[in-house]
Amino acid sequence: MIDIHSHFFPRISQAEAHAVDAQRAPWLTVDEGGKTGQIMLGDKPFRPVHDELWDPDARVRGLDGAGIALQIICATPVMFGYAWEAPRAADWATRMNEKAAAYCAPHPTRLRWLSQVALQDVKLATAEAARAMKAGAVGVQIGNHMEKKDLDHPDMVDFLIFCADNAIPVFVHPWDMMTDGRMKKWMMPWLVAMPAETQLGMLSLILSGALERIPKSLKICFAHGGGSFAYTLGRVDNAWKHRDIVRQDCPELPSSYARRLYTDSAVFDPGALKLLTEVMGIDRVMLGTDAPFPLGEQQPGALVRSCDFLGSEAQQRILGGNARAFFGLPA
Ligand code: CO
Repeated sequence: MIDIHSHFFPRISQAEAHAVDAQRAPWLTVDEGGKTGQIMLGDKPFRPVHDELWDPDARVRGLDGAGIALQIICATPVMFGYAWEAPRAADWATRMNEKAAAYCAPHPTRLRWLSQVALQDVKLATAEAARAMKAGAVGVQIGNHMEKKDLDHPDMVDFLIFCADNAIPVFVHPWDMMTDGRMKKWMMPWLVAMPAETQLGMLSLILSGALERIPKSLKICFAHGGGSFAYTLGRVDNAWKHRDIVRQDCPELPSSYARRLYTDSAVFDPGALKLLTEVMGIDRVMLGTDAPFPLGEQQPGALVRSCDFLGSEAQQRILGGNARAFFGLPA
């Protein structure tokens, strides 16, 4: 199996974070014993975490137990640094990418990495995405939005065109979720807003007509099965047929663009995976566990294998073959 969606968070010291942004740069504190810790923001705990996040040996022991041959890691979104001025964010991104490379280095056949970039400046972002590929990255992870810019913004489209032209696969992760206070309880930002953020990213590309300008060679994959996208695509098509404002920038039926996009398989339900594979296509869904976080798939591959309707060939594609093609990995 190849897992295309997992996170790491390196040992970032408090001093290193504070030198960048004392309030908003994340850092790691590890408890005595080395197995557990906290991601910190300023002097406040952000999230309790455990050693797979920063210790590649612990990670690979977990991969052995789960039967995962190769896992692709990327930044935990709190590391993005999109709120800072561009040079500071670009310097941070380079350092985080060096930490990602160092995390994977002891296990080059088991762990590969996606870069992060300072999306606030297209020139800096494309330069770092290209540099990272030369340094061993298999693609780039971006957030589904950069402050107020969604993926249809000309800067984001320019970045994606660069990735298409330079064969850099893109993984889009939702982050910085919409919340206005009604989402305080029960992890609602993760359960309601996060799937909507992902759908917003996908629909921004489709309804803006950006996919008419971005080369078809772009490989772009969205996390969490595309969030709310597949289930609500019929609603979008219906709106496109009956409202000029939905049609004005998008020349073709929205659902016809689904086959330009990819998603991971992290939907946790056979019915949802059936719909997802029908909407995206069997070739465009890839195993993604969201490890090592609690909202990820706890038994990697179990959902895909439980779906008899897929057949064994389709299961094998979703569990690894599609990822090999998407990232250009050796067989
Ligand atoms: Co994730």
